[in-house]
Amino acid sequence: EKDVYILGIESSCDETAASIVKNGTTIISNIVASQIESHKRFGGVVPEIASRHHVEQVTLVIEAALEQANMTAEDLDGVCVTEGPGLVGALLIGINAAKAFAFANGLPIIGVHHIAGHIYANALMQPMVFPLLALVVSGGHTELVIMKEHGSFELIGETRDDAAGEAYDKVARVLNIPYPGGPRIDQMAHNSDGAVDFPRIWLEKDSYDFSFSGLKSSVINYQHNAIQRGEVINPEHVAKGFQDSVVEVLTAKTVRAAQQYKVKQVIAAGGVSANKGLRASLEKTFEKEGIPFYVPPLHLCTDNAAMIAAAGSKMYEAGVRSDWSLNGRPGMEL
Ligand code: KG4
Ligand code: ZN
Repeated sequence: EKDVYILGIESSCDETAASIVKNGTTIISNIVASQIESHKRFGGVVPEIASRHHVEQVTLVIEAALEQANMTAEDLDGVCVTEGPGLVGALLIGINAAKAFAFANGLPIIGVHHIAGHIYANALMQPMVFPLLALVVSGGHTELVIMKEHGSFELIGETRDDAAGEAYDKVARVLNIPYPGGPRIDQMAHNSDGAVDFPRIWLEKDSYDFSFSGLKSSVINYQHNAIQRGEVINPEHVAKGFQDSVVEVLTAKTVRAAQQYKVKQVIAAGGVSANKGLRASLEKTFEKEGIPFYVPPLHLCTDNAAMIAAAGSKMYEAGVRSDWSLNGRPGMEL
């Protein structure tokens, strides 16, 4: 059978990315232009600034992805682009670039869900085995998803307030750590010789939902009280205490879901799955459970276009196509 080459394009938040993937499993090229430096001084992603960077970068990353692959548009079979969720202005730039490129080169276009992309980052590492449980933890999402086959996603739990990554970034801000604080908190927790005891937010006994805003408030109150008492806090102990709470709850709910749904494989995805503490906890726990657990290498955990091409390749194979009315869907559901 003929090999299928898909160009993926991602621009939903603060990375402009393009990648070429072969048969949905092999990365031929992978280009990511990060804007983190431009958003740092504002303490978070500024949508207008993100859009402006995407406009500047999008054709450059597409050209770079073709060049790195040593390919031209004629070698491609289709173009897959993030349709949502994300910042609408940011999404539209990737989508319009994808449309222009696809139309000019006579290629089909397919809109891809960003979270499906994060999940399919795993398909670039090893075959997916169903039923599968995915823990998706990023700056915008905290979700437990059951997949019974390719393209089928059943949401069994999600955050009721802040996403895990959002909580990391907000706690980092309280500790005066620059955006994005997730990786720094992870490092501080790793180096810490102690931990503040923060609550675990379990919600109802059977719930697979999450809540992180209460934990974030506990951290803020802890610091506030310390300042009022004239005490100096140990930021590493705070980072470790916060991370322990997040990791314990994420791990426990993921294990319970894996048992209840009798899954054959568990995967983690999204920016927070780059977290050392979370990776170690999930690896150890699922080894004990005897359920295969996988998490992508760090550069495929955070936003990239190879994951969009991987998810889109499966859709292409299944005959899914978008038309030229493809539009950005900021609140798109999985
Ligand atoms: O998936 P991603 O790149 O973008 C979204 O789709 O949101 O995730 C970004 C999020 C940020 O909140 C960042 O702080 C968090 O992932 N993150 C981490 C780590 N690396 C990135 N959080 C905790 N520990 C890390 N090592
Ligand atoms: Zn993401």
